[in-house]
Amino acid sequence: MSTFASVDEVSAALAEHGYIPDRRVATTVFLMLQLDRPALLEGPAGVGKTELAKAISAITGRRLVRLQCYEGQDETKALYDWDYGKQLLYTQLLRDKIGEIVSDAPDLESAVDLLSQHDSVFFSERFLAPRPLFEAINGQEPAVLLIDEIDRADEALEAVLLETLGEYQISIPEIGRFEARTAPLVLLTSNNTRDLSAALKRRCLHLFLDYPDADRELEILRSKQTGLSDALAAQLVQVVRGLRDLELRKAPSISETIDWARTLAVLGATELDAKVLADTVSVVVKYERDHARAIKALPTLIDPNAVVPDHRPDHSHGHGHSHSHGGHTHSHDDGDHDHSHDDHDHSHGHPKDEVGVARRAEKDKPGRHGPGHYGTPPYAAGDDDLVPEVLPKTAVGPDRGKRSFAAGLGRRRAI
Ligand SMILES: Nc1ncnc2c1ncn2[C@@H]1O[C@H](COP(=O)(O)OP(=O)(O)O)[C@@H](O)[C@H]1O
Ligand SMILES: [Mg+2]
Repeated sequence: MSTFASVDEVSAALAEHGYIPDRRVATTVFLMLQLDRPALLEGPAGVGKTELAKAISAITGRRLVRLQCYEGQDETKALYDWDYGKQLLYTQLLRDKIGEIVSDAPDLESAVDLLSQHDSVFFSERFLAPRPLFEAINGQEPAVLLIDEIDRADEALEAVLLETLGEYQISIPEIGRFEARTAPLVLLTSNNTRDLSAALKRRCLHLFLDYPDADRELEILRSKQTGLSDALAAQLVQVVRGLRDLELRKAPSISETIDWARTLAVLGATELDAKVLADTVSVVVKYERDHARAIKALPTLIDPNAVVPDHRPDHSHGHGHSHSHGGHTHSHDDGDHDHSHDDHDHSHGHPKDEVGVARRAEKDKPGRHGPGHYGTPPYAAGDDDLVPEVLPKTAVGPDRGKRSFAAGLGRRRAI
């Protein structure tokens, strides 16, 4: 049972440990502590999912055990494995002893029989290589178990996790069952790059974390002591919020706002003008095409009344609609290329790559990534490096069904 008597107490404790929660976050944490239930945190990258788990570990005084998920991960990396190296070393060091044991055996088969009577020596806890799930359950001290970015793990591992979380125990055939002395507090996070099983969602309290409102983001900035004055920080938050409204491949996260504030403070900025922001905007936008869009938008983000000198036709990149210029219809976008410092004029007879144009237009169909689709690239992924540069044309590939089918089988096991 939790030592926190109210949501407010949880909220204050989190803030004390450097995490600024909103009411919903504090309520979910309060409930998970009261009800002893796992919580699933979903939301775009950089909104404080991982950080929340760390903060919960801090306010509860429990140690943090983290299972970072990735594709291809299996039970031997999540639950436990045998320490083959140690087993081998022991068998070599004990060669003489093992020789004695099998010395009376008349043939190979009986030698193996004799040796197998000693299996339990080598398949014992001594030779076990514990992985995070095992550690969280079998550890001496109560733990917060963070299963981070579970959407990256395969469905098969998700099923194993479900089983383990259902009972807080792990069975190892050679040894027996390990039950948790104190059930770990479990937090799962997902960037929503794939759907999680209904069984998993059912088991968890669910919290969707989104970008914070302006006040909270400012409060977070203040708490990080970036060195930027409150007035500039407030202005910066508005600029970042404006950038998030642009259709960027990767919207700036909270951590990037913090980085930007620190950068501006280090540069000794005394006011935020378009120039200083443009010089430093690469701190928050990491793709060339986003960079160009951000630069274009900055003057109006600082001063909504600003008149941006631009006598060229507005191409409204990225919306995939067509423009008619003097009889030509150009459907263009900057899906693959950075057109924003384009010095060529679309309205005059460039040789057109019809296939490329059509392909890019297809990718930028309106609604392909509407709000709420942060989980699909370009909004996706905890690790930006892993976002594919060229997006698949269709969200559902031919293998997708197979995977879901396999997942269905996996899930059945877990329910
Ligand atoms: N509510 C918050 N209070 C304080 N700092 C926060 C908060 N949310 C996010 N941050 C900051 O943003 C950074 C990124 O958060 P992180 O937990 O890594 O994001 P996610 O796991 O959602 O991708 C953290 O290191 C932290 O500095
Ligand atoms: Mg994270």
